[in-house]
Amino acid sequence: MAEVTVTKHGRIAVATVDNPPVNALSHAVRSGLAAAVAQADADPEVKALIVICAGRTFIAGADIREFGGPMQGPHLQDLVNDLEASSKPFVAAIHGTALGGGLEVALACHFRVAVPSARLGLPEVKLGILPGAGGTQRLPRLIGVEAALSMITEGNDIAAAKAKAIGLVDEIIDGDLLAGAIAFTEKLLDEGRPIRRTGSLTAKVENPAIFDETKAALAKKQRGFKAPLACVDSVRFAVDYPLEEGAKREYALCRELMQGSQSKAQRHAFFAEREVAKVPGLPEDTKVRDVKSVGVVGPGAMGTGIVMCFINAGLPVTLVGLDQPTLEKSLGTMRKIYGGNVTKGTMTEEALEARVGLVKTTTDYTDLKDVDLVIEAVFEDMATKKEVFAKLGKVTKAGAILATNTSYLDIDQLAEVSGRPADVVGMHFFNPANVMRLLENVRGAKTSPDVLATVMKIGKTIKKVSVLSGVCDGFIGNRMLAKRSREGMFMLEEGATPWQIDKVLYDFGFAMGPYQVADLAGIDIQYAARKARWDKLSEREHQANIVDQLFALGRYGQKTGAGYYTYDDKRKATPDPYVEDLIVKHSAARGITRRTIGDQEIRERLIYVMINEGAKILDEGIAARPHDIDIVWLTGFGFPVYLGGPMFYADTIGLKTVYDALLKYKDLVGAEFFTPAPLLERLALAGKGFYSK
Ligand code: CAA
Repeated sequence: MAEVTVTKHGRIAVATVDNPPVNALSHAVRSGLAAAVAQADADPEVKALIVICAGRTFIAGADIREFGGPMQGPHLQDLVNDLEASSKPFVAAIHGTALGGGLEVALACHFRVAVPSARLGLPEVKLGILPGAGGTQRLPRLIGVEAALSMITEGNDIAAAKAKAIGLVDEIIDGDLLAGAIAFTEKLLDEGRPIRRTGSLTAKVENPAIFDETKAALAKKQRGFKAPLACVDSVRFAVDYPLEEGAKREYALCRELMQGSQSKAQRHAFFAEREVAKVPGLPEDTKVRDVKSVGVVGPGAMGTGIVMCFINAGLPVTLVGLDQPTLEKSLGTMRKIYGGNVTKGTMTEEALEARVGLVKTTTDYTDLKDVDLVIEAVFEDMATKKEVFAKLGKVTKAGAILATNTSYLDIDQLAEVSGRPADVVGMHFFNPANVMRLLENVRGAKTSPDVLATVMKIGKTIKKVSVLSGVCDGFIGNRMLAKRSREGMFMLEEGATPWQIDKVLYDFGFAMGPYQVADLAGIDIQYAARKARWDKLSEREHQANIVDQLFALGRYGQKTGAGYYTYDDKRKATPDPYVEDLIVKHSAARGITRRTIGDQEIRERLIYVMINEGAKILDEGIAARPHDIDIVWLTGFGFPVYLGGPMFYADTIGLKTVYDALLKYKDLVGAEFFTPAPLLERLALAGKGFYSK
């Protein structure tokens, strides 16, 4: 079957791209479109050409799988130039998403029409590159520099109505797109409207300082990323140079980015995110259970965030709490968060009421009798959770899924007390649950396949990235985090300061260091978590009790104005000499001679210990693939996307480098903490990586 077919509708030729699933601009599509353009130009009977797509979307971009290898001609750059140069009007007819190279094709057409549900954008920046086929040259010429800069540097797509309002789309077509596009084109021809080539327009800039201002803002907002800054430079070419020269420079910048490590990591993240949706051993056609209503037990911060995830997706939620005041407080939190959206103008009062109206609060578990899924989000304590699961097993209907939001506890024990272990699964959300993209689903020993398939699918419904983990202490994410936290504590005892460790991780690319996070989340919360896991901690961890000391002092973090740092009334943090003194005294009491610890050692001990734990998690089958670990860390723990996740990063620096460092720290810190995982050792010594086994 040809990827591009041309049919004639009277004097109008229609080129239909058909390259499932997303009509990416593969070599075959580029060739087909180039042939369609040549054919339309050469055929005297053809007076205009419409480019339209079959299937679910307009062209969603270049074929990302072709990146990195030699690109076979015709090149997209030549194709768009040929499209624009034609003396006959070309019209792009858009449905679904016109993204990246797809929008560049549409920009090179002389006119664009779209259905109301269409979305348009240049998301290349999210792949660590920039639109390399004229996008940064034509978009500012068509919609102005300011609007183009924001679309290109943020990479977000916009709705058809907005595209029409800013001049990106010429007409919205209600009803059949092809019929509407033909009618639009017939009218063009009848009126003899001149061709409007985007490339011959002038890119107007109202505020010449916009380039520097945008760069300064991006350096903060997208700290560490190279592509956004390069996008600004490239848009500037549209102002400084004629199309041909600007496009040449744009292409050169794009190539440079594409070959760089950041883009490789970001492309890895794109595909890994899609890979983790496929669970090995779980057939894609596994029948899922119907989930039309949800119950949440526990109206605390996590429970409230979880409720918001579901009502945002339009699903009614029954929220169970111990008493009316805590339930009211939860509703109040929701109203406050949505209220912020109303103030910003991104939500109407009616929508707010409609959303909160989907929540039914109750103190009676029997109100859960009809729901299809219940998520337990009560206090992180086995006895309390067991009580809840014993009740849920009795009050819910047969076939209802019983999920726990536990971060560390053994799901299989909860499954047993429910009396319905096949229905029990982990659905581990991250705080704030209504914001964080990660949903770590956890497969119990007896969880039935259709329950797994259902919770993986629900993730998509509530716009989360679902990753499946096996049962272990902390699952994928927190198990690795616990090792990093442990190393941090050890280094505090050995000579580092909280602010030094925070800065190393900040410079590595995390938004915050561990002690800033601890102060934000609450030292009291950390203390409780530490006590709950006490039996699992090593002797040295028991003794590294700085958290306990801060807790005893009432230094709970930001909420009390002091934790590791002190805070002013604007919550600005200052390193506290008192805490440094406390740590120094602690080291002395433990008989540890403090030494200067360099940033490299801090970085290696914090990151490599996680990689080593990741290798164990893989070897034990807790994560099916390194992709799952990378996505957990990218979407749930702020690992810098341009490094691709801990396992991808490990491969980038080389597993032998990690292995050698682990041996070094094994001697320094102890075999208990730094013995290389067998998988890591095997791969490192064979010169392989997690992704090239
Ligand atoms: N190239 C290759 N494969 C692609 C692709 C692309 N541009 N876009 C999507 N796919 C693949 C996905 O990997 C996935 O494959 P599997 O089923 O094998 O996992 C499949 O298409 C379906 O994708 P999604 O699961 O993401 O489907 P969705 O319906 O949820 O979303 C979409 C559709 C909005 C188009 C989303 O896929 C998307 O955002 N794609 C990327 C768009 C993009 O970044 N375009 C710019 C490309 S770079 C470019 O064009 C450079 C240039 O100018 C030179």
